Amino acid sequence: MVDVILGLQWGDEGKGKIVDFFAPHYDVIARFQGGPNAGHTLYVDGKKVVLHQIPSGIFHQNCVNLIANGVVLDPVTLKRECETVASFGIDVKKNLFISEKTNLIIPTHRALDKASELQKGEGKIGSTLKGIGPAYMDKTGRNAIRVGDLLSKNFTTQYIKLRLKHQKLLDNFHFIEDITAWEEEFFEAIDFLKTLNIVNGEYFINNKLNEGKKVLAEGAQGTMLDIDFGTFPYVTSSNTISAGVCTGLGVSPQKINDVIGVTKAYCTRVGSGPFPTELHDSVGDELRKIGNEFGATTGRPRRCGWIDLVALKYTCMLNGVTKVVMTKADVLDTFENLQVCTSYTIEGKTTQEIPYQISKVAIDPTYQTFKGWNCDSTKINSATNLPANMVTYIKFINEFIGAPVKYVSNGPGREQIIVI
Ligand code: GDP
Ligand code: IMO
Ligand code: MG
Repeated sequence: MVDVILGLQWGDEGKGKIVDFFAPHYDVIARFQGGPNAGHTLYVDGKKVVLHQIPSGIFHQNCVNLIANGVVLDPVTLKRECETVASFGIDVKKNLFISEKTNLIIPTHRALDKASELQKGEGKIGSTLKGIGPAYMDKTGRNAIRVGDLLSKNFTTQYIKLRLKHQKLLDNFHFIEDITAWEEEFFEAIDFLKTLNIVNGEYFINNKLNEGKKVLAEGAQGTMLDIDFGTFPYVTSSNTISAGVCTGLGVSPQKINDVIGVTKAYCTRVGSGPFPTELHDSVGDELRKIGNEFGATTGRPRRCGWIDLVALKYTCMLNGVTKVVMTKADVLDTFENLQVCTSYTIEGKTTQEIPYQISKVAIDPTYQTFKGWNCDSTKINSATNLPANMVTYIKFINEFIGAPVKYVSNGPGREQIIVI
């Protein structure tokens, strides 16, 4: 069976920590989409580690980790990550596997990302500039180079062909970037990548499933950044939703069991695009300060606001969420009152649905106010000790979104999680 952990908001919900928490119960942890735009934070032996492409099960000896076909892989970032992981005594040559169908990010993809954002000007997506969009364009455009191609004699020819195609596009953008240093790093990283376990991902995972092994699929980004259902065009370029697990791993829908959705107790977004509950005041600043809301990949300050139940109900629907994990509950410890958004008013009309034109219309959110719990929640380790006001807050969310909050995370540490 495949269980899934994915983000229900605009990313950075705390997926990395939650995957690390669940990993001891699984045999395989697999990334099914996204690439180095992701930044998943874990604490290992009290030390902070940010993973971008390596699945968040890498620090557990009981499981192996797969970077599957749905991912776009930057070998340079991967090499760096492998070095970090190795410094903790982890042997990636033993427990990391990469699908031969995984598409590669090459240096000119990053240049194209930059050029495209520059051309968009005010309307820029706020991309992480890791080359994600251009790499997925080459996949759907049927031009990409895949990890399996590294093992063929034609690799250099394929690379030069793609690079030339990119150069023409860059010329059209009138964009000049010296990528000599990037290319040097890239080819070094390619040599390293060749020494890792390159496998047929779909047989790898299905053979494991046939042996009765348990697989955990780790999502990157969040549902509101999904290419189809997110706040288009301010989205990423992959399917971040549970449906993406089937195409991103090569497993059938019948194999999907639990879909564990992760949401913060409030809401954040990094990059451009609509965010109906965003706070532009001191409360937003306080959330950012207490929650340490700065991007794990780019260091950018994250936009902060109250939890948006209209969006959360929508994302639970799209994913078929069976269990919810509410993270960063402790960040709300000191707030006297908490607000939750229960509907949107658009041009005088009230709705509980995400509008098609979410990126173009002005949304006035309606809030319901709840009393804060005003106590230190970070040491609580059992559901029976949860403050009454937190229980009321969670109960309201459960009923509104139609999915149960089964876990509350009350700090960044591995042990800071309460089972409800
Ligand atoms: P991801 O991309 O979904 O894995 O999330 P990020 O790692 O980008 O961002 C989540 C941040 O919140 C990281 O700095 C985590 O260490 C931190 N974090 C995760 N869960 C909690 C929690 O329950 N409380 C607090 N205070 N921090 C948390
Ligand atoms: P994790 O896995 C938060 C955002 C970017 C930008 C948009 C498109 O850590 O939750 P891209 O680089 O894909 O072209 O950027 O998506 N974005 C993320 N925001 N967390 C992420 O990943 C993100 N990955 C991309 O900020 O707005
Ligand atoms: Mg992140």
